[in-house]
Amino acid sequence: MSRDSGDNLDRNHSGNAPMTSVMDLYLSRRSVMRGSLGAAIAMIAGGGLAGCFDSNPGKDDGATSPGPQPTKPTQLSLGFQSIPGSRTDACTLASGYSAYVLAPWGTPLNSAGNAWKADGSNSAADQANAMGMHHDGMHFFPIEGSSEEGLLAINFEYIDQQALHPAGPTLDASGKRPAEEVRKEINAHGAGVVRLKKLDGRWQVVDNDPLNRRFTTASQMDISGPLRGSDHVKTRFSPDGTRCRGTNNNCGNGYTPWGTYLTCEENWPGIFVNKGTLPADQSRIGVVTSSGLYKWESAAGDSSEVDDEFTRFDVTPRGESATDDYRNEASTFGYIVEIDPFDASTRATKRTALGRLRHEGCCPGLAVAGKPLVWYMGDDSNNEYLYKFVSDAVWDAADATPRDRLATGAKYLDHGKLYVARFDADGTGVWLLLDVASKTAAGGTLGALYGDLPGIIVNTRGAADAVGATPMDRPEWTAVNPLNGDAYLTLTNNSVRSADKTDAANPRGPNLHGHIIRWHDSDDQLSFAWDIFVYGANAGGGAEINRSGLSELNQFASPDGMSFDSRGVLWFETDNSEKSVADYTNDQLLAVIPTQLVGADGKQVPVDAQNQADLRRFFVGPNGCEMTGITFTPDNKTLFINVQHPANWPYTDKATDATPAGTRVRPRAATVVIQRIDGGEIGTI
Ligand code: FEO
Ligand code: CA
Ligand code: CA
Ligand code: CA
Repeated sequence: MSRDSGDNLDRNHSGNAPMTSVMDLYLSRRSVMRGSLGAAIAMIAGGGLAGCFDSNPGKDDGATSPGPQPTKPTQLSLGFQSIPGSRTDACTLASGYSAYVLAPWGTPLNSAGNAWKADGSNSAADQANAMGMHHDGMHFFPIEGSSEEGLLAINFEYIDQQALHPAGPTLDASGKRPAEEVRKEINAHGAGVVRLKKLDGRWQVVDNDPLNRRFTTASQMDISGPLRGSDHVKTRFSPDGTRCRGTNNNCGNGYTPWGTYLTCEENWPGIFVNKGTLPADQSRIGVVTSSGLYKWESAAGDSSEVDDEFTRFDVTPRGESATDDYRNEASTFGYIVEIDPFDASTRATKRTALGRLRHEGCCPGLAVAGKPLVWYMGDDSNNEYLYKFVSDAVWDAADATPRDRLATGAKYLDHGKLYVARFDADGTGVWLLLDVASKTAAGGTLGALYGDLPGIIVNTRGAADAVGATPMDRPEWTAVNPLNGDAYLTLTNNSVRSADKTDAANPRGPNLHGHIIRWHDSDDQLSFAWDIFVYGANAGGGAEINRSGLSELNQFASPDGMSFDSRGVLWFETDNSEKSVADYTNDQLLAVIPTQLVGADGKQVPVDAQNQADLRRFFVGPNGCEMTGITFTPDNKTLFINVQHPANWPYTDKATDATPAGTRVRPRAATVVIQRIDGGEIGTI
């Protein structure tokens, strides 16, 4: 979630270990480990695991090799100096680079929409044909491999009602939201595909391109995978449970090796209201009982309403059966949604096999011919879990260029195994399968709890509770190192973790600064070895806080968006609300090359006081913003990032121009294009 959205509650009441109790158990078994718990955690989390622990008999190969595997490429190093923090209504970035604004909120994608108006008076129809609000995850799909032309698939996470309407949201005399306003809000959410082309060295939107299109919270979509046709998703709109409408609160993203985009539904529960008794899944995921976040349901019954377009947000059971009402509407949200950016005639498809949660990102592992494909997924709420999907089908490289991309999606994304992570205190971990035969910690099975696989998927969080997954500090984006397959996860923060509920993987309580954890999976996908790569901190924080020895030039908090580029540079963005860092700098983008951080034995080590200067601040956004979304052209010479919910920006097309003091602009989230002034690759020498 953004610090401006979501509710920051803890809905995980499972009491799942492994927490300090498991740590104590482990330590009591290990005569070599003496001393305080804190010291032991620091030792584990700080790396150097090989010298501390024996391999763990019975565990699979990869998981017994402590820590991610060494791979030190030659000739790869950062080519910029870290920049100081900044707190202005402008972007600042490393010397030798330029930045400009591309496709801000309201930019028309075709001639059906009017140009954006600075007074907020664009219509709902304009909004349906324009860039949505609050740019988030995105991916650049090159056209025929080009780094000069491609399709940008992009998420529009949530809305700022004050900026969207001329003078904010309104209610009519009877307390209802006006239908036109609701439709505009619905159309400002979702995702989009926009064709981009570089002309005279500058990227532009290709207006009216036939591939330009929007997906909103109203767009018809297909339900695919285990839930297709199941009773859980039958509604008055789709009595056979095969269709649904809309995607919402699309936060992080993923992609596939066959050229499709994956958009992730995060804080969608807030748009619904259930005035009756919440079923377990709605309670566990946070559907509310008073009124929806934007009161969209209040427009129900408007004389212009078509196909229950507003009625569907009230999921209170009212009819004789599920096909008479919208009691199941919320069960059609919470998924990974596949979009084919190259074929505008296709519908977006909800890939339900990848679980139902508050999905953040969905990064693929490395595609290896003859092996299953995997995707890693965070569930961004306090004390929620890390998930992994493993395809049943093994990767056929011929599928990289399929004739039918969504059929290929069905092959790899509709059939597979959904796992949730348990991080053990010894630096290993286990992927716990969520399927009918899976044993629960209480001695039963998931099948006994939830009936069948569709039932497990609707109740993904509850199933993960039952098998004993590790509650994490708000899992956001995942990223996979192209050089060695190591996977990384941003754990943005956890204000509700108490000091007595810490564990080795989440060792600070409360965790106000966040951290990045990494792991390497075993060949059989069932286990992993992990360590903590870097801890967010203010530079002035004590040893317990500033565990990675950060300085003013790289202090950060609340890591969120994250991606490797194709060379193995790890880039991560922040969504910070920790005061001491926020007092120093706006949200930012940092870079580091993990494979260059190695110890004397040549194995990778985490960021520490000795090597921390190799973690560098590259970019700082304008006041009030959060940095989201990150993608690259194949030649790494263009970097696209998103500025979300700026306070008073952009004043001009040049991202680095400050809004003059005393000037108020209607803020617009936007993509920022970064290029090196000498035309070279971004970030490296
Ligand atoms: Fe939408 Fe978890 O950030
Ligand atoms: Ca966030
Ligand atoms: Ca966000
Ligand atoms: Ca996020």
